[in-house]
Amino acid sequence: TLQPVIMAGGSGTRLWPLSRAGYPKQFLVLDDSNRSLFQQAALRLQGLAAPDLAVRAPLIVGNEEHRFLVLDQLREVACEPRAVLLEPIGRNTAPAITLAALQAEADGGDPILVVTAADHIVADTAAFTAALQRAARAAAGGAVVVLGITPDRPETGYGYIRSTPGGGGAAGADVADVAQVAQFVEKPDLATAERYLAEGDYTWNSGMFVLRASTWLTALDRFRPDIAGATRVAFAASQTDAKFVRPGKDAFAAVPAESIDYAVMERCPGSAFDIRMVPLAAGWSDLGAWDAVWQAAAKDADGNAAHGDVIAMDSRNTLVHATSRLVSVVGLDDVIVVETPDAVMVADRARSQDVKKIVQALGAQQ
Ligand code: GDD
Ligand code: MG
Repeated sequence: TLQPVIMAGGSGTRLWPLSRAGYPKQFLVLDDSNRSLFQQAALRLQGLAAPDLAVRAPLIVGNEEHRFLVLDQLREVACEPRAVLLEPIGRNTAPAITLAALQAEADGGDPILVVTAADHIVADTAAFTAALQRAARAAAGGAVVVLGITPDRPETGYGYIRSTPGGGGAAGADVADVAQVAQFVEKPDLATAERYLAEGDYTWNSGMFVLRASTWLTALDRFRPDIAGATRVAFAASQTDAKFVRPGKDAFAAVPAESIDYAVMERCPGSAFDIRMVPLAAGWSDLGAWDAVWQAAAKDADGNAAHGDVIAMDSRNTLVHATSRLVSVVGLDDVIVVETPDAVMVADRARSQDVKKIVQALGAQQ
């Protein structure tokens, strides 16, 4: 049995000023689909079932503050969640996945978790489904499976996976032809990323992980018993209210904040855990920063992407996003302009990652 899990509790600060604390990027419509990134994530998982793979309704792990956004947006796409786990405060993805694993265990059996982010776009749903089904079969015997993307630039916002051809391993015949992960490096610096790209046997971590609930809990017990123990305490104090499951507030606040990438994935290779990589060639992109939104957008002959009421003259490779009034630019190259009713942001496209510094400087005012 497969248990899809959507992690939807991030803050998306690099897409400020469109992405706000009360309305972060996963709930925004950022492409031509008319669906938010979160809605696209839910819809994408709907085709996962196969004759040998039963699929449960998804578990959503998000923030208490966004509970109505989650429910309303799911209703709009006719997706009925199994449960919505509500974190009183973000503790990053390792505790979020642990809540989902504990819920899956409480629901019975030892399902294979299909853990996915809520901030991606994927062009080819059929290829996405096939890759996840292959990953699920490989995970059945106890492997930790990651979906890898062929890199096309030395992006420093992603994790990098070095893999070797399949074979061997503890997890049996299902993984014989699935690549083995030799090394996992989360968000390397630019020089390191450039070296990985030149070396060639690296893929990006897509941020999607497929593994049994018991495999996750065993791995976390092994590598970060502090996170595992504290999250168990919080989950044991959960209160359920219709679809909402609320872990104990103070207990969850005491859980150490860490991502799955640092807490587990970087430590798996070379350990007793069998870690595998299934390639995903499906037009994947993490819309992490404005440059990625520009990369993924439809553009005119000069490379300009526009959203809303926009005039761009004698400009090249710009992204102009207007939400409440006419925005016009002239003679700009490689610039991002984002207009909202109460804030305007103009940035060099190459400095997209640094938009989060504005949010840090603004603090609670964002
Ligand atoms: N429930 C919950 N709670 N969800 C969270 C939390 C949290 O505290 N923090 C983040 N998330 C969600 C985000 O909403 C997103 O859907 C997903 O988890 C990943 O978090 P990001 O913050 O977007 O991570 P990232 O993009 O910097 O890095 C990860 O994804 C990359 C690919 O998109 C890593 O896994 C990288 O290795 C990977 O390359
Ligand atoms: Mg992301």
